[in-house]
Amino acid sequence: MRPRLDRVRLRADLEELAQIGRTATGGISRTAYSAADAEARSWYAARCRDAGFELTLDGLGNMFAGPARTGPQQAEVWTGSHLDTVPEGGAFDGAVGALAALECVRAITEAGAELPHAVRAAVFADEEGYFGGRLLGSFGLAHGYQRAELDSITGVRGERLAEVLAGWRWASGDATGTRMPPGRIHAFVELHIEQGPRLEQERTDIGVVTAITGLCGARVEFAGQPGHAGTTPMTGRHDALVGAAAFVSALPDLAAAVSADAVITCGTLQVWPGAANVIPGRVSLTLDFRDPDRERLATLRDRLEAAAMATAAAHGVTAAWHGHPLIDPVPMHDGVRRAIIESADALGLSRMDLPSRAGHDAQNMAHLGPTGMIFVPSRGGRSHAADEYTSFDAIAAGADVLLATLLELAQGDHP
Ligand code: GLV
Ligand code: MN
Ligand code: MN
Repeated sequence: MRPRLDRVRLRADLEELAQIGRTATGGISRTAYSAADAEARSWYAARCRDAGFELTLDGLGNMFAGPARTGPQQAEVWTGSHLDTVPEGGAFDGAVGALAALECVRAITEAGAELPHAVRAAVFADEEGYFGGRLLGSFGLAHGYQRAELDSITGVRGERLAEVLAGWRWASGDATGTRMPPGRIHAFVELHIEQGPRLEQERTDIGVVTAITGLCGARVEFAGQPGHAGTTPMTGRHDALVGAAAFVSALPDLAAAVSADAVITCGTLQVWPGAANVIPGRVSLTLDFRDPDRERLATLRDRLEAAAMATAAAHGVTAAWHGHPLIDPVPMHDGVRRAIIESADALGLSRMDLPSRAGHDAQNMAHLGPTGMIFVPSRGGRSHAADEYTSFDAIAAGADVLLATLLELAQGDHP
């Protein structure tokens, strides 16, 4: 029997998950390692129990689901995405790929398909970079973390990752021991919403991702001197926010000077001591910056750091740069792309090649084995916002392509 997706079950799963972490404004806040993230994982674990699957965890909270393995292990085909969201995010970023992956593994198992390479569903921890950077869980699989590095990672509100993990039920084992041994992954495929407008504009069902942009980030701390807002003359102040604001205002020009594709975002900014009548003594801000070219991304990082120092000095304050690891731009694997293309064509779906400007766990997985991504359209190109939307028919079409691609890859010697 050829595996077939149960669309009713997949739709019900998406609708149920979309209730977890929903806020009064209609968005979803399931930031990594939050109570809502834990609730989503409990819900996912229950779905795995219903399917009779084994669910394993690693030390960062990556989760892997599928039928229990027996006998000698062949390299596996993995598929998956993430359950965490940005604050006030949407119901589709991550959820679509994580739940379609689970549904594909259920369909393959229920059909009793005998495949040379077992197919497994993955949920990656902290894809959204709530803790110290980006793609935390999949970075741990691809590269591993040293203890000192892990100990230095803090959350957006200053929470220490090591402490959070110590009290986190959905992780098991040593957080420095997550690196995957070579040869374990035969291929990896991730289904995701596009998060941009092109598929909708071109009225195309399926995006075959060609490459994923490079990304990096940093926390920058500006320090000055707090003081009385009324009695301290404007000349001679050391206002940390005035220095930080001058730096933030320069970001568009800094991006444009590196490339037309470079983007830089300051998405969080905190001011201390935080009173209307006190000159800001300290400011901490985050930077997210991206470019599809690695050299240019490194240039962007170097210029941002230099600009932070120079702008701070020009405003009588200091700046300290705490950089995150640079995540390489990666091309998608030709063989996996071919399997996606053949699957879309066999299903009679329209398709186009396109690069990803968003970051994805697939870009870390690409270091572990041949990797590809399938995109489905996003209404209005909207994402990381409550109005993110993809129709269920579009998701089901993407899930059908995912299943066909997984079956093709799991049967072959080489993607
Ligand atoms: C991941 O969602 C990203 O920020 O690109
Ligand atoms: Mn995502
Ligand atoms: Mn996202």
